[in-house]
Amino acid sequence: MAVEGSHEGLRSSKYIKFKELLRGTIPDEVLKLIPNSFYIIGDIAVINLPKELGSYAAEVGRAIQLTNKNVRAVYMGGSTVSDYRIKELTHIYGEERTETIHKEYGIRIYVDISKAYFNPSLSEERRRVANSVVDNERVLDLFTGVGPFTLHIICSKKSYVVANDINPYALTYLRKSLELNKKLVRGYVDIINSDALELLKSLREETFDKAILDLPHKAVHYLPNVLKILRVNGIAYTYIISDTPSNAAKEVDDVLSNSYRANYMIKNIIRVLDYAPHKYIYRVEVCKLPTK
Ligand SMILES: C[S@@+](CC[C@H](N)C(=O)[O-])C[C@H]1O[C@@H](n2cnc3c(N)ncnc32)[C@H](O)[C@@H]1O
Repeated sequence: MAVEGSHEGLRSSKYIKFKELLRGTIPDEVLKLIPNSFYIIGDIAVINLPKELGSYAAEVGRAIQLTNKNVRAVYMGGSTVSDYRIKELTHIYGEERTETIHKEYGIRIYVDISKAYFNPSLSEERRRVANSVVDNERVLDLFTGVGPFTLHIICSKKSYVVANDINPYALTYLRKSLELNKKLVRGYVDIINSDALELLKSLREETFDKAILDLPHKAVHYLPNVLKILRVNGIAYTYIISDTPSNAAKEVDDVLSNSYRANYMIKNIIRVLDYAPHKYIYRVEVCKLPTK
């Protein structure tokens, strides 16, 4: 079992300039409380500004826009809500628009950040997963959102992907992205709007080579049903929030030891992103082995 190091997403150094611009305008003790980093999705910036700093929000937004020439709109991000995993957003500066096109490795991803989940910090991760897929493989992207994993895969491999999500708006954006990237697309996609468990129960056993389970706070519980639809030697890329790789592995073992008769092996555990203090998102690669 291999364990790799951290691959953090967008970090501070590239974006810290906006705080330099604010120095002198905003009291130093307030400046210290403003995060050093923020996300840029397409031409929209999202900063997780503490609510109590709301009165400084417009100045922060203006500084972000002035120091990032491609940014047209700035939002303050709140908690992640509902099954759709969408961030609460408050407009703080620039255009009042939540729809944008984000570019990753030449792939254009259409998204409305008020209607669907999107995390730009995962671009390298999507690339790595897409690189592990080979031509003619069948992949299930169980929690596809606006489809970034699916797009990376079908734009680089001649493979077949079933892209599923419970959020119909997210899938509308995936359809738009397929149109936008049609010159790059090499593979095939079926888009399904279903609850993951319902879909898994309706699929034929042993028909997929890979499955992507990107719903980190719940994904592990889908493993018993996911392993059924995987072929022998198929891999479930399971994203799990945990403090250590061994605890992430334990979550998998706890779920599978009780409810899954067939054999499996944890092939790799990769730390993908920081999630909270002492909590990380891990990709746990669960490989289906022949039944003993
Ligand atoms: C963390 S997001 C991941 C989205 C996508 N993989 C990405 O990289 O942007 C999880 C997604 O799971 C979807 N979801 C949540 N519960 C679900 C369920 N029971 N069945 C199917 N999709 C679900 C949400 O709508 C959301 O789009």
